[in-house]
Amino acid sequence: MTMQAPQRLSERSHLACARSDIPTDGAVLTCHVQGRAIAVARRSAGSDDIVAFDTRCPHMNGPLRLGRVVEGEVICPWHFFRFDVRTGEAVACNKSQMQLKTYEVKVLGDKVYVDIE
Ligand code: FES
Repeated sequence: MTMQAPQRLSERSHLACARSDIPTDGAVLTCHVQGRAIAVARRSAGSDDIVAFDTRCPHMNGPLRLGRVVEGEVICPWHFFRFDVRTGEAVACNKSQMQLKTYEVKVLGDKVYVDIE
């Protein structure tokens, strides 16, 4: 008999995906959590450190779901701005007021949960 993973860990923490479904090469997995598209990825290629952030770039709404995460930074495919996937801060650009929305992540076994307000 297999145990069903809970859909929520708390009021805010919702099941997003299986950790084993997240690409290991820096690509981003789009998950749908409470009707919201959330980008889930590994903080660096092959890492088990899982991060979650908005699928839309704060610059001009570029598709971060098509971006890549390299050494803790997601690179937008449109204009190649980079954002720290933990803090959401723009990295190495003069648009430092831009802020990518990031989400708290919890991993329970193979299941990844994302905190949604
Ligand atoms: S839309 Fe992402 S860098 Fe411009």
